[in-house]
Amino acid sequence: MNLPFCENYKIKTVESLYKSTTAQRLQWLKDARYNLFNLRSEQVFIDLLTDSGTGSMSQEQWAAIMTGDESYAGSRSYFKLKESIEDIFGFRYFLPTHQGRAAENVLFSALVKAGDIVPGNAHFDTTKGHIEFRKATAIDCTITEASDTALNHPFKGNVDIEKLEEVLKSVSPEKIPLIILTITCNSTGGQPVSMGNIKEVYRLSRKYNIPLFFDSARFAENAWFIKEREADYAEKNIPEIVREMFSYADGMTMSSKKDGIVNIGGFIGFRNQELFRKSSTYNIMFEGYITYGGMAGRDMAALAQGLREVIEPDYLETRIRQVEFLGNSLSVAGVPVQQPIGGHAVFIDALRFLPFVKREEFVAQTLALELYLEGGVRGVEIGTLMADRDPISRENRFPKTEMVRLAIPRRVYTNSHMEYVAATVRNVFERRENIKNGYRITWEAEILRHFTIELEKAQ
Ligand code: F0G
Repeated sequence: MNLPFCENYKIKTVESLYKSTTAQRLQWLKDARYNLFNLRSEQVFIDLLTDSGTGSMSQEQWAAIMTGDESYAGSRSYFKLKESIEDIFGFRYFLPTHQGRAAENVLFSALVKAGDIVPGNAHFDTTKGHIEFRKATAIDCTITEASDTALNHPFKGNVDIEKLEEVLKSVSPEKIPLIILTITCNSTGGQPVSMGNIKEVYRLSRKYNIPLFFDSARFAENAWFIKEREADYAEKNIPEIVREMFSYADGMTMSSKKDGIVNIGGFIGFRNQELFRKSSTYNIMFEGYITYGGMAGRDMAALAQGLREVIEPDYLETRIRQVEFLGNSLSVAGVPVQQPIGGHAVFIDALRFLPFVKREEFVAQTLALELYLEGGVRGVEIGTLMADRDPISRENRFPKTEMVRLAIPRRVYTNSHMEYVAATVRNVFERRENIKNGYRITWEAEILRHFTIELEKAQ
């Protein structure tokens, strides 16, 4: 008999969870004006809002914390981190930042100017935000298969190479400061980019002489999928695959809060010394001196260790299988989820889940609120609220999909927690026909409204 899959960690420190009642959750939701970001964490039983900065560190990382060197310049912890980055990614130059979006801010300050075009695969919100803030345009060249949730495609993070070449051909190269490839692609459901596709994007980047940067927040999960799904890589080990992936990049931005398995931190990796030097000035202005850039020495020490742990096969297998376990538990019950299951999260297709709720009443938000009411599970809406209004017409923008993302923190929950989450979703699924009314906005911010929005029930 095959032994069952189980977690590759045991638990040394525990944090209690409070199981609330439905009546309490109803009141708390009302008090939170139907915005899950407004809840206090104690009001949540299983928190799947994000996998960012919510992971558990290993005993080796906690031990590394004690070795942290807090020197302003030339800290030992900086050099430890530099060694990890050079070994794992092959980048000689790097700048620490306080998180991923800060890395974007520094790099784009050096590269992106008004009127520029930055092509990529479904840029993450902050990436797009930092591009648009500079009056440049992010062009999404993801393959069209990515938005068909029922379609099983092994690499839904892939770039449509023809579409990318169209963009590169139609604009003069000085207007395209870089191409950004997000691995895995969060916005399409934690979906990987194949090595074949990475190579093709790289080929175009050489042909048109444009730097290629990876948004690498979930790079290790991407490498796992390449090993699992791309024939030529089945026999390669994860560190080899990671090295090859990054051999096609001129640099990387990193949110260490994901595949660095730390609670805060980020960095930029560079191959080119000149760009590193140019970016260093912005790092000093926005983040801190180039050998700490917004991170404490102890945090750099924990990250140096986390980056080595995240590419261990046992860790990655546990990680990917846990997310897949939740996803499959939902699929077998008929719950529509993005197929195949992504690396860090299960994305529920709310349009197919709640066909009776009007799009104007925020379908994915309605589903996210129902999941909280049912079992104290907090996910996040990736739909019309997150998409914001059109900046000119001020009309709601209705994206192609309405999703609820259940993002799994790293090494935090057990598979029995996943069973609980699956049961919560299934219970809501069983009573979906009775869910007909959504929500109306009572207050919203001009941009990034979903974080602070206030809602009331639609009648
Ligand atoms: N790139 C990707 C692909 C991301 O998913 C994120 C953050 C960032 C960049 C920005 O990094 O948060 O460290 O500043 N994603 C989080 C999430 C917030 O919940 O998916 P950051």
